[in-house]
Order: sequence, then C-alpha cells, then structure tokens
Amino acid sequence: LGDGPLRGKHILVTSGPTHEPIDPVRYIANRSSGAQGTAIARALLSLGARVTFVTGPADVPPPVGADVVAVQTADEMLDAVRSAQDVDAGVFAAAVADWRVASASDQKIKKDGKGLPVLEFAENPDILATVCASKARPALVVGFAAETQDVIAHATAKRARKGCDWIVANDVSPATGIMGGTENDVVLITETGAEDWPRMGKDAVAARLAQKIAEVLNG
Ligand code: C5P
Repeated sequence: LGDGPLRGKHILVTSGPTHEPIDPVRYIANRSSGAQGTAIARALLSLGARVTFVTGPADVPPPVGADVVAVQTADEMLDAVRSAQDVDAGVFAAAVADWRVASASDQKIKKDGKGLPVLEFAENPDILATVCASKARPALVVGFAAETQDVIAHATAKRARKGCDWIVANDVSPATGIMGGTENDVVLITETGAEDWPRMGKDAVAARLAQKIAEVLNG
C-alpha cells in the first residue's frame, strides 16, 4: 500500500454495469463501461488508500492493487458490498440495473413457434440506499447520478432520497459522448450546493474527487 493522504483508509468502490440473466445464455445489461469507477479506484489507490473494488462485467480491466470482487448481478453486488465491513468511505459508481427478470429460466428459452416470450421484471435492491440506511454506514458516501435532463434538480433530489453525502451527477445524453467515452462533465452535489466542474478526462475527474475525499476523511 502506498503512501499519501489516504494511507490507512479503506474505501469501497462499486463500478461497471450489472448483468441480469434471462436464461443461461442471455442477459439484460446497460452501456456502462466501468471507466469512471475504475479511474476513481486508481486515484484513491495512488493517494495510498486500500480499495475494495466491487465490479460488474466492465469493458476495462480492474485497477491493479485493489481487492477486486467480480460480480454479475445487482443481488451479488449487494452481497459483496455488505461483506466489505468497516470502510471509511464508499463510492458507488456502478450502473446497477433497476430491474431483474423475475424468474430467470434455468434452461435456454427456445423458439417453439407458440408465440413470443414475455419477460416479467422484479425490482432490484438499491445498494446505495441500503448502505446509507444501514448501521454500518461509512462516514462518507458518494453516489452517482446519470441523467439525460434537468441534471442538478434530479441529482439534488436523488441525494436526499438515497441519503448519501455527495452525488456526482452527469449528463449521459448520447450527444455528450460521456457514456463509454474518455471525458466526463460533472456537477458535484454536496450539502452546501452544486459545484459545476469543467469538462475533463475521467482520470482528472477521479483525481479531483479522490483529493476531495482525502480532505474530508482527514478532517
Ligand atoms: O437511482 P439511480 O440508479 O439513478 O442512482 C444512481 C446511484 O445509485 C449510483 O450511485 C448507483 O451506483 C446507485 N445505485 C445502487 N443500486 C441500485 C441503483 C442505483 O447502488 N439498484
């Protein structure tokens, strides 16, 4: 473990999408690449933190030096997050699927000529909200909000609803090129209001966020 302002601190980071099975060969997913969560974990590691990195099936490799827990589904991600005890901070960058298929088939669904399959959904647990409401709530909890309109209003409401300290909000409309891209354009929502950061690389967003986390954890 490195030296730096986060030495001795343990931080949990969730990252990537989740995959929710339909049957053994098919799943429902989303376009999260895991790039921003991975960059944040790397930035925290470089400031000396111990990082537990709970990741869904991402496009980018996990950060070297993190304790990596690879999961597929939201339920598995919640289990992994619950197992990471006594962290100083949690950064919830994963794009968790809101719904799963209520009863995934344990055999491949076949074209049987008798009509189209109908999928019924069940709601996934909200991992961030669960952690915020738990007795083991870390001192600092950072959530994300991927929005396509009214970013600040939606993210401010989300911060209150989920019970987290900060929300890193961004506009993921296709025209922004942010989802799957190398840059991000975020607004940080805290208890004191909204801080609009200039558009910059995901690594730079990560470095700035890690620096801010270090300031808070060191009082
Ligand atoms: O509700 P929404 O998905 O927009 O909230 C985004 C924030 O909540 C992110 O920090 C995300 O990681 C977290 N989240 C979660 N579990 C869910 C849904 C979202 O932890 N089931």
